[in-house]
Amino acid sequence: MKFKRTLITLVGVASAALAHAQANWPTKPITLVVPFAAGGPTDVVARTLGASMTKSLGQTVVIENKLGAGGTVAANYVAKAAPDGYTFFIHHNGMATAPALYRKLAFDPLKDFEFVSQAVEVPMTLLARKDFPANNLPEMIAYIKANQAKINLANAGLGAVSQLCGMLFQRAIGVQLTEVPFQGTAPAMNALLGGQVDVLCDQTTQTVPQIKAGSVKLYGVTTKARVKVLPNAPTLAEQGLKDFEVVVWHGIYAPKGTPKPVIERMNMAVRTALKDPDVIKRMDDLGAEIVPDATNTPDALHHWLQSEIGKWGPVIKAGGKFAD
Ligand code: MLT
Repeated sequence: MKFKRTLITLVGVASAALAHAQANWPTKPITLVVPFAAGGPTDVVARTLGASMTKSLGQTVVIENKLGAGGTVAANYVAKAAPDGYTFFIHHNGMATAPALYRKLAFDPLKDFEFVSQAVEVPMTLLARKDFPANNLPEMIAYIKANQAKINLANAGLGAVSQLCGMLFQRAIGVQLTEVPFQGTAPAMNALLGGQVDVLCDQTTQTVPQIKAGSVKLYGVTTKARVKVLPNAPTLAEQGLKDFEVVVWHGIYAPKGTPKPVIERMNMAVRTALKDPDVIKRMDDLGAEIVPDATNTPDALHHWLQSEIGKWGPVIKAGGKFAD
C-alpha cells in the first residue's frame, strides 16, 4: 500500500515536471539536423529559417550537418534521437524516395517521426562545367550521347534530389553515365567548378549565384514553368524532355513521441519564420518559393509525404537503382 502511494506520488511529480518543461519550452538551444553538407541547398534553407526562428523562440537554433547515404544517415539518427523537443530535422523529397531506393531502411519515414511543417519549394537546374562543349540542351544531349563513356554526373548519393534528377535525365535521353556521389551538392558544386565532374543537377538555392557569375553552364530548369529568378532559362520540358519535372520540397520533422505542445510551438516558429521579410527576400533571391501558410500544418506534411512516397516509389523502381 505504502509502495503504491509512493509510486503514485512519483508519477505525479514526474508528470508535473514534464508539463512544466513543455510549458517553458525551449529552455536551451535546439538542434536542427541537416542531412547534407554545410553550404549546400538544404543547409542554406535550414540556416535561413534557423536564424529567424532563433529570434522568435528566444533560443538558438543550432544547425548540425549529419552526412551520408543520401540523407538516410541523418534521418535514422533523428528517428532514434530522444523525443525531448530539442532535436528537429529538415529534409526534402529524399524522405519520400528513400523507401524505394534502399532495400533495408533503418527507419520508417511515416511512422518514426512527428511532422512539424512544410517550408519552401525549390526548382532545380541542369548544369555542366563551364568549359563543357555544348551551348544548349540539344547540343548537350548530342555530346553526351556521343561521349557517354567519358562523362560523369555528380550527385549527393542515393536519396538526394540531385541523384533523382540525374536519374530522370539519363532515363529521358537514354544514357547511363558514371555517377560520382558526394556528401551534399556543396562539394559536388566545388568539383564542377574545378572541372573534376562534368554534369550536375542541383537546386537554385545553391546554383543561382554560380549561374549569374557565369561559373557554370545552364541548360534548363526542372519546373513546369520558367522561374522568376532565371527568366531566360527554358524548362527542360519545353526543350523536348516531355513531362520532365522535379520540384524540391522541404519538411521539418521531430523524433516520434516529441510532445504535441512542442510540435505546435515549433510549427508556429516555422510559420513565423516563413513570414519574416529577411527569409522571404533570401528565398526569393535564390528562386525558392514559400509554401502557402494554410498548408504548413503537421497533418498537411504527413499527407504530402504519403502522397510523395506513392508518387516516387514506382518511378524509382522502374529505374532499378537500389542500395542495401
Ligand atoms: C544538399 O543540400 O546538398 C542537396 O539537397 C543534396 C541533394 O541533391 O539532395
